[in-house]
Amino acid sequence: MNVEGDSVSNEPPLVQLRGLTKSFGAVRALTQVDLEVPASQVTALAGDNGAGKSVLIKTLSGLWAPDSGEILWQGHPVHLHSPKDAEHLGITTIYQDLALCDNLDIVQNMFLGHEPLRLGALDEPTMEIAARKTLADLKVTTVRSIRQPVASLSGGQRQSVAVAKAVMSKARLVIMDEPTAALGVAQTGMVLDLIKTLSDQGVTVLLVSHNLNDVFEVADRIAVLHLGRMVAVGPASSFDTQVVVDFMTTGRSTRFSGDERAADLQN
Ligand SMILES: Nc1ncnc2c1ncn2[C@@H]1O[C@H](COP(=O)(O)OP(=O)(O)OP(=O)(O)O)[C@@H](O)[C@H]1O
Ligand SMILES: [Mg+2]
Repeated sequence: MNVEGDSVSNEPPLVQLRGLTKSFGAVRALTQVDLEVPASQVTALAGDNGAGKSVLIKTLSGLWAPDSGEILWQGHPVHLHSPKDAEHLGITTIYQDLALCDNLDIVQNMFLGHEPLRLGALDEPTMEIAARKTLADLKVTTVRSIRQPVASLSGGQRQSVAVAKAVMSKARLVIMDEPTAALGVAQTGMVLDLIKTLSDQGVTVLLVSHNLNDVFEVADRIAVLHLGRMVAVGPASSFDTQVVVDFMTTGRSTRFSGDERAADLQN
């Protein structure tokens, strides 16, 4: 974590969602969603099943166009027509099923689609050096060999490789959808440490999580979706577990000291 609570800065947030609305037929997945994601901080997005978290991040990843509303990147409106558009801005999304290739090793996965060439062949030494350095910078120490196939890694190690791949592609915003959902205690700790390291290195993280222990351990800010509406946003210090649970389950809380918007909604 870099910043305690709200930062005082003239810089626009890295990402800003304004009035984002998205329906699937009769289902309103997102309704007038506003969210600011400040640079170099960890913003946690919480919400019950079906609240709209995945739809929100898929919209931000260029998979789905919103029906209305806009996305601003460093203060400028952007139109994300495809995941490539998001990738060009520096947005990397790590989905739970982790688009890694089991049959390839760690180095091959980290460079997939961006392999450096030398004299017409893959530049293996350069790839190995860069992969090793990126993992070391992220303090990933439990991997036995960077030449082992990804199929042989634990869930936490796979997350680490996916994050290292994002860092290697110079991601500015890393979005993680439930990164610890399938992990044991030690592996969860490893992924949470990784999130802290990323944010210490200036990478912005948007963490989708049901696990409130994880949320409170790493988040600078918390945003809660309820039935497609953003019901509360604020510094993590303005919430406690019960307040987040209240917002997640009922869309309101009587004991909240955060964003005015939530207070407005409750009136
Ligand atoms: N492709 C789709 N087609 C139709 N409806 C969809 C589609 N994707 C999501 N929805 C609907 O949008 C709403 C929000 O879904 P979303 O997947 O964003 O929830 P979530 O907050 O990610 O939930 P979970 O915690 O279970 O992953 C749900 O009512 C869901 O049924
Ligand atoms: Mg989801």
